[in-house]
Amino acid sequence: MPKAFRRALVTGGAGFIGSHLVDKLIRCRMQVCVVDDLSSGERSFVNPKAEFFQMSINDPEFFFLVQRIKPDVIFHLAAQINVRYSVKNPRHDAEVNILGTLAVLQAAKESNVKKIVFSSSGGAMFGKGKPPYTEMVSPNPFSPYGISKRAAELYFLQTQALYNLPCVILRYANVYGPRQGAKGEAGVISVFARRMLAGGSVTMNGSGKQTRDFVYVDDVVAANILAMKFPQSDLFHIGTGKETSILTLYRAMEKCMNISLALNHIPPVSGEVMHSSLDAHRARRVLKWQPTVKLEEGLQRTIAWFKMQEKK
Ligand SMILES: NC(=O)c1ccc[n+]([C@@H]2O[C@H](COP(=O)([O-])OP(=O)(O)OC[C@H]3O[C@@H](n4cnc5c(N)ncnc54)[C@H](O)[C@@H]3O)[C@@H](O)[C@H]2O)c1
Repeated sequence: MPKAFRRALVTGGAGFIGSHLVDKLIRCRMQVCVVDDLSSGERSFVNPKAEFFQMSINDPEFFFLVQRIKPDVIFHLAAQINVRYSVKNPRHDAEVNILGTLAVLQAAKESNVKKIVFSSSGGAMFGKGKPPYTEMVSPNPFSPYGISKRAAELYFLQTQALYNLPCVILRYANVYGPRQGAKGEAGVISVFARRMLAGGSVTMNGSGKQTRDFVYVDDVVAANILAMKFPQSDLFHIGTGKETSILTLYRAMEKCMNISLALNHIPPVSGEVMHSSLDAHRARRVLKWQPTVKLEEGLQRTIAWFKMQEKK
């Protein structure tokens, strides 16, 4: 790890992706602080070697905490991530994802941070046109969640231009892996895994022909590490570029678990995007990132984790 980066702050570090990132940073011998209000994260996910602060990024104390921590790098993952919730509660979504991001940027500006890496969403920003989407495609978010993530990106771009604060924005496709909650924007694998292990029937929205781009959490963590070391500001799509239908995904999970369950189709969610995937060629060329975990392998690791949780 470059000497310049010894101390990291991870907002949302008790969450699904954030807790894996914390583990990796600790394996890289960095000092890690986590700020998380545990609204969807789990205290038990936080690596015991990290310093944990249960606090909202919107708490006025957060600013002073960052001054005390003096991080070299901030990974900003704390967010309201539930798209359907955002439709019903756009104001709360904006409070966390826009005002919360502004609080992080304000604290970063005042504390000599050398780099900020922001977890944004590709999946929630595109929908029209033909996937896989490159960084050249204009975002066209429809859900309040997509809108708040795009607004946060624009504040990052403004901060980097005005205050010369290096920021790397990573737009993820549908991330999956151990510790994923069932409510996230991409929680379909964790929803299926939980229901399938419980042995009941599984409900699928629509025909299952809708497609998504599933990227494994370890690959997303690797992108964050590369983004930290990346010498400039930039924006990258982090996905596999491959579309997998929900039905294919479900069959692959059945195979992995060696079971076959009744599948109930219910009407599709209105306004749901039919096809989505991200083109990560630029991340491959410039950031030197590429996905390494194939879907079958990632599903096996994920299901193994859910099985272990069942036994606890
Ligand atoms: N999971 C995906 O497929 C996916 C895809 C695209 C982008 N992302 C982005 O990646 C990031 C992490 O997502 P995740 O899937 O790990 O979700 P998650 O819900 O597991 O993690 C978010 C964490 O933020 C915390 N948090 C929420 N509001 C907070 C606040 N006000 N102050 C402090 N902490 C707060 C939650 O408790 C949780 O631990 C998010 O920014 C999300 O938008 C995720």
